[in-house]
Amino acid sequence: MQRPISLYRLIYASAVCEGVGSSQVRAILDVSRRNNAALGVTGLLCFSSGVFLQWLEGRRDAVNRLYHRIASDPRHRDPVLLWLEDAHERVFADWSMGYVGEGVLASATLFRFGISRLDELRELSGAAVVKLLLALGDQARRLGQAA
Ligand SMILES: Cc1cc2nc3c(=O)[nH]c(=O)nc-3n(C[C@H](O)[C@H](O)[C@H](O)COP(=O)(O)O)c2cc1C
Repeated sequence: MQRPISLYRLIYASAVCEGVGSSQVRAILDVSRRNNAALGVTGLLCFSSGVFLQWLEGRRDAVNRLYHRIASDPRHRDPVLLWLEDAHERVFADWSMGYVGEGVLASATLFRFGISRLDELRELSGAAVVKLLLALGDQARRLGQAA
């Protein structure tokens, strides 16, 4: 028998707005970690080359509501949905919001996917973006820098 779907995964990318710097990204992370823990949402946020790339996973209603709130945040613009799927388990269960910034985002990982900067994401299929985020998550985990 099929297991019931209880989780949902959503990935989007957006462009940072002018004037938003590292202290604001830090503030976004702090709020995300606090709120997501209460919402039962986990995931990973990457920020590099002026691009946010975020993986959200949790109950479908919680992820949807959160995505709409995030999408209307004036600190970024042009959110593009890259991936949506039902899921049986969390990939980033231990991160209310892991983080991969310029320091962790090694270009070698991007090169493996045929891009040199995060703002070239449009070159990638949704499935490739999923793999890229998994690779970045692994990298952050190895370096112990995402939490
Ligand atoms: C790129 C980006 C990612 C964000 N990710 C999250 C998130 O995962 N969780 C969250 O609660 N807020 C996130 N936010 C912030 C929300 O847009 C919003 O400011 C926040 O949820 C409001 O929380 P508050 O009502 O507790 O102040 C993000 C904002 C941006 C720009």
